Amino acid sequence: MSEWKIICRVDDIPVLGARRVSRAQGMDVAVFRNAEDEIFAVLDRCPHKGGPLSQGIVFGTSVACPLHNWNINLADGCVREPDVGCTQKFSVKVDKGNVHLMPEELATLALEFMPPTAGPKLLQSA
Ligand code: FES
Repeated sequence: MSEWKIICRVDDIPVLGARRVSRAQGMDVAVFRNAEDEIFAVLDRCPHKGGPLSQGIVFGTSVACPLHNWNINLADGCVREPDVGCTQKFSVKVDKGNVHLMPEELATLALEFMPPTAGPKLLQSA
C-alpha cells in the first residue's frame, strides 16, 4: 500500500519557483509551484546534460533548464519538441495546503545519478 509523507506547505514553495528535497542515497527531487499553485516534482536533473532544474524558470506547466534552455514538461518530466528525453517524475498530492510525496518513490526512483553541489534552499531530507 502506498503512503504519503508531508514535505512542506504549498506556501513554502515560491510561486514560479522550486524547493529541493534531499535524499541521502541519491539526487535531490525538485518540487515546483506554478502560477496556478499547481505542484510538481521531478528529479533535479535535466535529461540533457544534468542541469539543476530547480534553478530554472517556471512557466505554465514547464520549467526551462538554466543551462541550455530546454523546456521540461513538469507533468511528465519529458522535454518538449524538438528536443527529446525525460527526467524522473515523482507523484505529488496536495491536501489542505500540504504537499505530499511518496517515501517509497523517494527511496527507490532514479538513485543512479550523482547529487549536484548547488541549488535552492533545502526543505528537508527524505
Ligand atoms: S543541461 Fe538542461 S538544457 Fe542542457
